[in-house]
Amino acid sequence: MSKRDGTPRTSPTSTASYPAIRMRRNRRAPWARALVRETMLSANDLVWPMFVMEGSAKSEAIASMPGIARLSVDLIVEAAREAVSLGIPAIALFPYTDVKLRTDDAREALNPDNLVCRATRAIKAAKLDVGIMLDVALDPYTSHGHDGLLIGDEIANDATIAALVKQSIVQTEAGADVLAPSDMMDGRIAAIRSALEAAGHHDTQIMSYAAKYASAFYGPFRDAVGSGGLLKGDKRTYQMDPANGDEALREVALDIAEGADLIMVKPGMPYLDIVRRVSETFKIPTLAYQVSGEYAMIAAAADKGMLDYDKAVLESLLAFKRAGAAAVLTYFAPHAARLLRDAAK
Ligand code: PBG
Repeated sequence: MSKRDGTPRTSPTSTASYPAIRMRRNRRAPWARALVRETMLSANDLVWPMFVMEGSAKSEAIASMPGIARLSVDLIVEAAREAVSLGIPAIALFPYTDVKLRTDDAREALNPDNLVCRATRAIKAAKLDVGIMLDVALDPYTSHGHDGLLIGDEIANDATIAALVKQSIVQTEAGADVLAPSDMMDGRIAAIRSALEAAGHHDTQIMSYAAKYASAFYGPFRDAVGSGGLLKGDKRTYQMDPANGDEALREVALDIAEGADLIMVKPGMPYLDIVRRVSETFKIPTLAYQVSGEYAMIAAAADKGMLDYDKAVLESLLAFKRAGAAAVLTYFAPHAARLLRDAAK
């Protein structure tokens, strides 16, 4: 029986009861617990998100994400090398775009020499065996901080798709292995997939942020990429209502039909029910994003001595696996990978 599908191994209708059944027998020693452990977490389950900035040998702390820094391209290459040495299979790059380059039409997103494209090429030039995921969305490039184009007071779906398709091709040509549309426009997966096929990029994976909620937990990320202060209004006309679960299944079904290879649920911990339902319903690799606000909560509480940092980090990540996630995007990735490596020694 698969460990991932969550099916109990003993019948819940069993008529035996205490004292014939003592659940603690299977927990009484480390070896006994190891023997029956259902879920495993390894570095292979992690994706490391990184923030890229201009310059060289530059590292800039992010106030709302203690312990995380924006890195210039040369240092991103070093971090990618570290990912490989820690056994982390993939990284995700997000740019801190100069405010002068942010425009209403987000044209910097289509510049083949923009920050994420340069970082991607630099990592590829270093011949590192690590997957590179790039967000497909316009928010690091728009003057108003939205993921799409603002026409009047509306985020224009179809005009945005045209820009996302171009951004996808530019990023793929820079060397992105996985395109990750996180914009929540309708129909973008089909448009991106057909443009990739037409351009001969048959093997580029699409990881659709199919179930992405309008969440307060993205706050620190918006500081990290510098879009928070610019954001006009909120993203509730395109990101999902946190009250909805069934709607996530419709979103995912559409994106699978349109050609997504991987599905992302975001945020993570408050949405483990969605991770479970999606992975169980569709049996497609389902990833979860432990977002910036989730990172900040654990980091801040640990900083105040309110909880044990290392234990909280590993427990939080294990919970994603137990819920059915194939992998987790997490800012804890390098730390967790080191903890897992040291525990195995
Ligand atoms: C934007 C994007 C966001 C995140 C990843 N891509 C923020 C948003 O939708 O406003 C959030 C990630 C995090 O909070 O760690 N396309």
